[in-house]
Order: sequence, then structure tokens, then C-alpha cells
Amino acid sequence: MTTPPPSLPDTPCYLNGEFTPLKDAKISVMDRGFIFGDGVYEVVPAYGGRLFRFEQHMARLERSLAELRIPNPMTRAEWQAVAQKLVAAHAQSTGAPAESGDQIVYIQLSRGVAMRDHPMLPGLTPTVFAMANAMKLPSAQQREAGVACVTANDFRWEKAHIKSTSLLGAVFARQISVDAGAVETVMFRGEHLSEASSSNVWIVKDGKVMGPPKDNLVLEGIRFGLIEEICRAAGIPFELRRITRAEVLAADEILLSSATKEVLPVTQLDGQPVGHGLEKGRPGPIYAKLYAQYQRATQA
Ligand code: PDD
Repeated sequence: MTTPPPSLPDTPCYLNGEFTPLKDAKISVMDRGFIFGDGVYEVVPAYGGRLFRFEQHMARLERSLAELRIPNPMTRAEWQAVAQKLVAAHAQSTGAPAESGDQIVYIQLSRGVAMRDHPMLPGLTPTVFAMANAMKLPSAQQREAGVACVTANDFRWEKAHIKSTSLLGAVFARQISVDAGAVETVMFRGEHLSEASSSNVWIVKDGKVMGPPKDNLVLEGIRFGLIEEICRAAGIPFELRRITRAEVLAADEILLSSATKEVLPVTQLDGQPVGHGLEKGRPGPIYAKLYAQYQRATQA
């Protein structure tokens, strides 16, 4: 006997020009997003009803679409109107004013519907989908104690810079940490740090924040630019360069960043405490500064 799928909420979503309850939204089985994972997505946070870093998310969406040769059927202003409407509607459906709860807006486009054929078939009408959900932020306990991560070989493909809906590599990577009771899987390509299954990874050494270069091996998180800005404003040295496994293991602090994790301290890696001295196994001072400034930015 099969278990029925979990029921989906009534919250409004946007599908191909129309707003409909999420549970009623339907697409074709021949959608290339379903058949090939041939699409792109974005996860845009909204704080107190205000979209955060929306222009940067749109710019990345445009880059991903261009790589896949999928036309963007909507202008930034149109995307913004849809996202705002979803945020307001989601707040209304939960009975809370839009300003009271933080949300994420998920946006996805696929190449469209066609009979199964691998080439990037031109001329299709992209399938456009978006929804707003409550943002699940890390718990106060996770912020205070930091989180545990495990390491793994980065077995994903070499186009990690595209925010593609082909996420099987990320699903496998994330499950490694789930099975180990950890929060994320920090990955290495050979001896070099790449990123985690759905977040970027940063190390701190002698007061300097370092991340991997923005190339095809990592997704350039919207927090790349934000963390750099915060560091510059706070006088914290910041550098993007290849980081070795040995440097990660010897780091004073390790941080994760993403739309939903914001900035989060990693205090255990493969069961070993991160850092040195009094801060060993505890969130460090650079994390505290970045997190405080991050919160200020979301409230601005
Ligand atoms: N993940 N690297 C990967 C592989 C990611 O999937 C993400 C985001 C990031 C961080 O990007 P940003 O700072 O723009 O959120 C880095 C999103 C949140 C997700 O898939 O749900």
C-alpha cells in the first residue's frame, strides 16, 4: 500500500501568469524541469515584508538563464511585483501582517514543455513558478553553540555556478550530513574547499575572512557580496582564493552562509572542535561581528 503524498498548503503561488493555491498548481508531465531538471531557481529572503538584495538575486537569475539559453519572460519589475504579491498573500494566509514574519520567495523557471529530446530546444515557452514560504532560520541554540558539519568529496558537476534545479548532487551531498546527524556537508574538490550542499563556506584565520574564488566550481551566493561589504566596512581583511583542506582544518573559525542560514558558525567538523584556545569548539569573534552586521543590513 502506498502512502498518500502529504497535503500541500492553500497558500497562493504564481504559475505561468496566474496566482493559484499551491495545492491546485499543476504542470505538464513533459515539462523539461520534470524530465531533465532543465531549469533554474532562486531563493530570495524577505524580512518584515521587504525583499532583501532582490536586484542581486535577479542578476544571478539572469546569469543562470543566459547559461542555459532560456529567455527570461519577465522584467525585473514584473518579478518584483509577483514576489511582493506572494509575500503579502502568504502573510495574509497565515493571519499575520506581512511585516511580522520573515519569508523566502522561491522562484523557478524551466525551459518549458516539449517531447523528450536532449538539445536545448529553442522557442519553447518557459514554465514560470514562484511561491512564498515562512523562513526557517537557524535556532537560537544553533547560533549560540554553532553547528556540526562533515566533510566529503565534491562529486558534483563542473557547472556549480549555475543555480540549476538539477540538484541530485546537492541532495546526495546533504544526505551525507543528515546520516551523520550534522547540519551541512563541506565539500572539497581534490585538496581545495568548494562549498557545502546548499551554502557557501568561509574560513577565518588571524582575523581575515577567506572564501574560494568565484568560478564555475561554486555557486556565487548573494552573501559573497554582502560579506565582502560588511568586512570592508568593519575593517576586516577579506580575500577570495583557493583554500586547502589543511587550511580549513587549521582555521580559527569556519562559517556557512546562505539565504536561510544567513551567517552560521561551524564549531565541529568531522567530530573535531573548530578553532583554538578559549574559542575552540565555540563561535568566534568574527562570526559575532558578521552576524550583527548582517542583522543590521536586513533591518535597513
Ligand atoms: N542555497 N551554494 C549552494 C550550492 C547553494 O545552494 C546556496 C543557496 C548557496 C548560498 O547562496 P545564497 O547566499 O545566494 O543563498 C551556496 C539555497 C538557499 C537553496 O538551495 O535553498
